[in-house]
Amino acid sequence: MNGKLEQMTPELKAFILEWKPKPGNLIMVLHRVQQTYGYIPREIAIETAELLEVPLAKIYGVVTFYNFFKLQKAGKYIVQVCLGTACYLRGGDDLLKEFESQLGVGLNATTADGLFSVEAVRCLGCCGLAPVCVVNGNVHGKLEKKDVAGIIEQYRKQG
Ligand code: FES
Repeated sequence: MNGKLEQMTPELKAFILEWKPKPGNLIMVLHRVQQTYGYIPREIAIETAELLEVPLAKIYGVVTFYNFFKLQKAGKYIVQVCLGTACYLRGGDDLLKEFESQLGVGLNATTADGLFSVEAVRCLGCCGLAPVCVVNGNVHGKLEKKDVAGIIEQYRKQG
């Protein structure tokens, strides 16, 4: 689903070895992994566990505890649905469910073709347009559930 296996870069390996003896190293290292690949690839998690000499389960414990870490590569188009107060009160939650159901993915997951991922975010600063979603920086405002299919289609056509 995520395409090719990622290779650990020499820079990342050096960073991990540098942090190995330091306290709190796991979080620092995982941040660097995500910075390098955009998510935590399984093969890199395995190599990281070996380098740090910690159980793989410990790495996944941390990764799944913090929402910040992603287990899947983000889609080409990142659909961010606002669940801030103004948007939530105007149906942001329904909008989010509609995107999930039309794309066939859950929250923070990526479609099998790698085109879309869906995220929930807090106030995007354009509450006057609530409910709002942003796709790769493009704001779509005053949305209704019936608009969702059109938005998906618009980006799908761009491939
Ligand atoms: S609450 Fe959604 S943009 Fe402010």
